[in-house]
Amino acid sequence: MAYAAGVDVGSTQTKAVVVDETRRIVARGLVDTGANVIQAAENAYLEALSRGALTEEEVEYVVGTGYGRYRVTFGNEQVTEISCHGRGAVHLFPATRTVVDMGGQDTKAIRVSGEGEIVDFCMNDKCAAGTGRFLGAASAALDIPLDDLGNTALASRRPVKISTTCTVFAESEVLAWLGKGKKVEDILWGVHQSIAARSAGLMRRVGITEQVTFTGGVSRNPAMIAALEEKLETALNVSDDCHYIGALGAALFALDRILASRAPLSKGKAS
Ligand SMILES: Nc1ncnc2c1ncn2[C@@H]1O[C@H](COP(=O)(O)OP(=O)(O)OP(=O)(O)O)[C@@H](O)[C@H]1O
Ligand SMILES: [Mg+2]
Repeated sequence: MAYAAGVDVGSTQTKAVVVDETRRIVARGLVDTGANVIQAAENAYLEALSRGALTEEEVEYVVGTGYGRYRVTFGNEQVTEISCHGRGAVHLFPATRTVVDMGGQDTKAIRVSGEGEIVDFCMNDKCAAGTGRFLGAASAALDIPLDDLGNTALASRRPVKISTTCTVFAESEVLAWLGKGKKVEDILWGVHQSIAARSAGLMRRVGITEQVTFTGGVSRNPAMIAALEEKLETALNVSDDCHYIGALGAALFALDRILASRAPLSKGKAS
């Protein structure tokens, strides 16, 4: 059995996925990217290998993706994260036609074909608004761990309308609302609604065709799922593997290479 791996070195977190020849995920690794990007890529990959009880020799091909894809020193090839998110999303949810990837740094909207090819994409690369970083600023201002943000926000009854779209000003606006006596959950739900509105705007630029798959680490946040579903008026495809979709797409491209390299051999045998 041959194995293929994908390593998605994101601005905030680095994800690694190993797949077997049947395209099944056999192992995952996740670490914070931090300042040493080369080390993060290695650590995420080694974590996945150890979880899958695999050796480096058993993995025949590795594809790097994400902003730090050229830092995957053990990688055989690099593929853009747009292509990898599209491929991974269509693999997990074959009816996917629109992908929204919310990571630590930016949000990307991607339109894909039934084959997982990229038709169009759009990203908010100029500013961190509408992303995990915006949520991070709110979580710091309210002193709530990132993992609890979503559930806290879902308890809201009277959402506050957040007007700033800039991460730099998010903290002061959140603090100002707290000072006016607004409840933490109402401020937080407002933050989620504001991000959802801006992400929906980004998605409209590529066209929103169902089904929509939500990828990236922010897809782990239940309030972000709810806020986006409310804004788009449609249910989103989400799974525990959505944080790993870029790495999964990269691993599938790696597997393509392995299988393609064998194709002439098997043809020869058959004739
Ligand atoms: N358990 C969790 N609950 C809520 N949010 C989470 C959780 N885990 C991660 N996140 C969010 O996901 C973000 C990281 O997502 P991801 O790994 O997709 O980003 P990235 O790929 O590093 O960034 P980018 O694609 O922008 O370069 C974190 O900043 C955080 O906001
Ligand atoms: Mg990413």
